[in-house]
Amino acid sequence: MMPTSRRICVTGATGKAGRVTVTELREHGYEVVATDTALTGDDVAAGVLKADLTDYGQATVALRGTDAVVHLANIPAPGRSTPAVTFNANMAMNFNVFHAAAALGLTRVVWASSETTLGLPFGGPAEQIPGAAGQPPRYAPVDEDHFPVPATTYALSKVASETVAEQIARWSGIPFVGLRISNIMETRDYQRFPSYWPDPQLRKWNLWGYVDVRDVAAACRLGLEADVTGSQNVIIAAADTVMNRPSRDVLAEVFPGVPLSREIGEFGTLLAIDRAKQALGYEPRHSWREEIHNRLSRTGPGALAVVSPVTVVTGLTPGRGHAGTKVTITGLNLTGATAVRFGAAKAKFTVVSPTKITATAPSGTRTAAVTVTTPFGTSVATSATRFTYTA
Ligand SMILES: NC(=O)c1ccc[n+]([C@@H]2O[C@H](COP(=O)([O-])OP(=O)(O)OC[C@H]3O[C@@H](n4cnc5c(N)ncnc54)[C@H](O)[C@@H]3O)[C@@H](O)[C@H]2O)c1
Repeated sequence: MMPTSRRICVTGATGKAGRVTVTELREHGYEVVATDTALTGDDVAAGVLKADLTDYGQATVALRGTDAVVHLANIPAPGRSTPAVTFNANMAMNFNVFHAAAALGLTRVVWASSETTLGLPFGGPAEQIPGAAGQPPRYAPVDEDHFPVPATTYALSKVASETVAEQIARWSGIPFVGLRISNIMETRDYQRFPSYWPDPQLRKWNLWGYVDVRDVAAACRLGLEADVTGSQNVIIAAADTVMNRPSRDVLAEVFPGVPLSREIGEFGTLLAIDRAKQALGYEPRHSWREEIHNRLSRTGPGALAVVSPVTVVTGLTPGRGHAGTKVTITGLNLTGATAVRFGAAKAKFTVVSPTKITATAPSGTRTAAVTVTTPFGTSVATSATRFTYTA
């Protein structure tokens, strides 16, 4: 077993991922030395160290006296600064932290790489060739071997930093864990998700991926604890996509030529997390599906009128007919339906509105319970959902 590092420097500690990671580590018994350049008065009072990590001396002061570092500070996306500033700032921060960790004899470096190293934006214009069509992925789910395909200086800074990490890990013998993190979401971000559903082009750039910030924090902790050597880089994403339709269908519609390299779950992620599971014991625990559900339960239907955890069928018109009869299904929360069944038989259908679906009765005999399946589950059969086949 690896010796467990107890005193951890967290950089970028006042950022989105940093704040949750500091809490996660403290809750698991770690002592945390938090550092960032952007501090509120409360952060100063809480003892967060102000340090600019593009300066080697300040990076050394921040890391001194700690056992390991979770390094999250960076310019976190393309387009926040000019391309050259993004690259230069991130390279300086990453080199300084990696080198200081080795020079000070820390036992572990966990750091934020990015999903962008894998070829993002898929199907979108690359920063380096403005206006040029972006490349689709070569295959899906995209895994760690779909690398390196940087299309922005942000992604290039992460690719180059993985090389720096590999070499410093080799020189020093310190294990490095690079997390190729997907698009980080906080709970409040899930309210936007229904707006992604009508147009699958909107989120194609990262194959409809995301990850809950609490799962990122857990991955950082697991990165400290995992029994690894050398420099390991793993994808950290949610288990599902942002979409309410089967992943296979969305991929086929937007990227028709891209082969699926293996079976995936109905709403399964197209950013493979198998290696993170194996190497770190990573298991995503949060999904927008459960969060929207929880939010509705807590605050009532006004909070998110567009979605609901309960899909209900209230009636069929007509309730009798034969194979081929057009049936209007009324109910609640039918948006995003993935299947309509008459008994066990699947029907062709069209979602007209959140309260209305039109379906064509498939072949059948006697009576069939009509159900609708959405990402929130399958409606319950009642007497009002019974379709009677006439001779
Ligand atoms: N947000 C995402 O969707 C996402 C996706 C993949 C990877 N990442 C990576 O995860 C990490 C954390 O991202 P985040 O979303 O929490 O970003 P964030 O911007 O919320 O946090 C980054 C923090 O780094 C600090 N920082 C920036 N420059 C600094 C400097 N010179 N010295 C010291 N601190 C500095 C900022 O003040 C900020 O608090 C970043 O490395 C980012 O590249 C983020």
